[in-house]
Amino acid sequence: MASANRASSSLIKVVALSGSLRKGSYNTALIRSGIELSKGEVEGIEIEYVDISDLPFLNTDLEKDGSYPSEVEAFRQKIAAADSVLFASPEYNYSVTGPLKNAIDWASRPPNVWAGKAGAIVSAGGGHGGAKSQYHLRQIGVFLDLHFINKPEFFLNVFQPPPKFNSDGDLIDEDAKNKLKEILLSLKAFTLRLQGKN
Ligand SMILES: Cc1cc2nc3c(=O)[nH]c(=O)nc-3n(C[C@H](O)[C@H](O)[C@H](O)COP(=O)(O)O)c2cc1C
Repeated sequence: MASANRASSSLIKVVALSGSLRKGSYNTALIRSGIELSKGEVEGIEIEYVDISDLPFLNTDLEKDGSYPSEVEAFRQKIAAADSVLFASPEYNYSVTGPLKNAIDWASRPPNVWAGKAGAIVSAGGGHGGAKSQYHLRQIGVFLDLHFINKPEFFLNVFQPPPKFNSDGDLIDEDAKNKLKEILLSLKAFTLRLQGKN
C-alpha cells in the first residue's frame, strides 16, 4: 500500500521522438494522442514532444573541444533531463528511419545520455504496422543501455478499415487508444521500477 501511494505520487518526465518528419505523420499523431492521454486518463506522466528535424546530419567534425552544435546540445539536454523515452518509429526499408537514427546517434556521443533510461516504442504504418523497425530499435538500445518495456507491443496498421485517424490526422480508433494507454502505464511502472521507486 505504501509503495503504491509512493508510485502514484511520482511524476515521470517522458520525451517523445517521432522518426517521421512528415507534417501528416501517423507516428507523430500517436505521440499527440499519448500527450492527450497523459493530460487526462493516464496520471503521473508528463510527455514532451521533441522535434528532431533541426538536427544536422551527424558529423564528428562538428564536435569542437567536447561540445556539440547548439541544436544538438539542446536536444541532448532534453534527453538527459527525462526519466524515459517514447519512440514513435515508422518502418523504412525494414528498419528505423534515417532521421531517428541520426537523433539517436547524436545523443549517444559522450556522455551517452540514453544510458539507464526506460523506453517504449509505438509504430504506425502499413503491413505489420512498423514492427520490423521496432526490433531494430530494440537492438540499437542494447548498445545505448536503453531499457525497453517488452509488453504490451504497439503496431498499428493504418490502412486496414475502419479508419484509424480523422481528417485532422488525429487518432480516433478506440482500440488503438486503449493500447496506447496500456503502453504509457507500462512505461510509467517500468520507469519507477528502474529508479527503485516502486
Ligand atoms: C523510404 C520509405 C521506406 C518505407 N519502407 C517501408 C517498409 O519497409 N515497411 C513498411 O511497412 N512500410 C514502409 N514504408 C511506408 C511507411 O512506413 C509509411 O508510409 C508510414 O505511414 C510512414 O510513417 P508516417 O506516417 O509517420 O510518416 C516506407 C516509406 C518510405 C518513405
